Amino acid sequence: MAAVVNRVSRQALLKAKSLQHNQQANFGNFSKRTKNIALGALGLAAAGGTVATAVACGGAVHAATELILHAPRMPWPHQGLFTDFDKRSVKRGYQVYKQVCAACHSLEYVRFREMIGVIFSRDEAKAEAAEFQVLDGPDPEGHMFRRPGLLIDAFPSPYDNVEAAKAANNGVAPPDLSYQVKAAHQGPDYIFSLLTGYRDPPAGVTLMEGVHYNPYYEGGLIAMAQALYDDIIEYDDGTPATQAQLAKDVTTFLLWASNPDMEVRKRAWLKCTIGLLVIGLSSYYWKRLKWVSLKSSKFMFTKSKPTTDKYLKKK
Ligand code: HEC
Repeated sequence: MAAVVNRVSRQALLKAKSLQHNQQANFGNFSKRTKNIALGALGLAAAGGTVATAVACGGAVHAATELILHAPRMPWPHQGLFTDFDKRSVKRGYQVYKQVCAACHSLEYVRFREMIGVIFSRDEAKAEAAEFQVLDGPDPEGHMFRRPGLLIDAFPSPYDNVEAAKAANNGVAPPDLSYQVKAAHQGPDYIFSLLTGYRDPPAGVTLMEGVHYNPYYEGGLIAMAQALYDDIIEYDDGTPATQAQLAKDVTTFLLWASNPDMEVRKRAWLKCTIGLLVIGLSSYYWKRLKWVSLKSSKFMFTKSKPTTDKYLKKK
């Protein structure tokens, strides 16, 4: 019995093998063009499949985040091609950051010296840096210590380490704010709406202690309490400190913090564009100038008459 099964299966295998062989041989007989078309079609099908999968996955992700409230678009003045940040707003926003947000959030990638010329003069920036206590060390005995900040220092974290930050905020460490505006989907619009969007939770939702309801935050439940209220601080320049004003100013400050050299880059972009335009137009003019004599002259190619005696004799 075993021998029969063995023989049958071997035969079947052999058959399958020879079939494969035939197919290969057949494929080998196709013309090169047919093969190319077949391979192209295969490639297209694969690409189509990939795109379809990506679209399907995108749909799934959207379906998961459908419940998020989208932040309305705001007319931020820096968004134009030729416009810069509203410097007075950046300065006010710094005041909000320092007096409200710096209690929990660091700005690890922004250095005090970057504020020179935008928010403060050099001396003011030096004095401002000295107001912050920056972690330094270790000293000769191996201890870390805090010292007044210098211009080269970045805005320090109010906590010694992540664990301390978590312990002070119900288990969630406040993120560094240097690039939050860039990281957030909808950027500044999101930050503004988040800061002004705290609401009472919907009926039937009970919040745990230390959790707050904000429909702009993914999932709606956020560990950060509402930080901005009307008149929570007093602006040095006398601007009324409404909640919306505070949120707009601190968002503008964070925008500047994430992109302090935007003005320089916009200016460089403008110079390059003007330069390329001048070079492009003048090379077009030069080309026309050099080619105009050739392009506007007419060349006549005529067949010269055969004048050999032999030809004449034949006639
Ligand atoms: C009492 C501490 C505290 C203060 C003050 C505070 N925050 Fe927060 N912040 C937090 C914590 C904690 C989180 C993390 C929340 C979470 O992920 O649930 C957070 C998260 C954030 C986020 C990220 C939200 C996201 O989408 O992940 C932004 C932006 C932010 N804070 C901005 C600010 C600004 C601007 C201020 C000042 C106006 C401020 N915070 C003041 C504690 C604070």
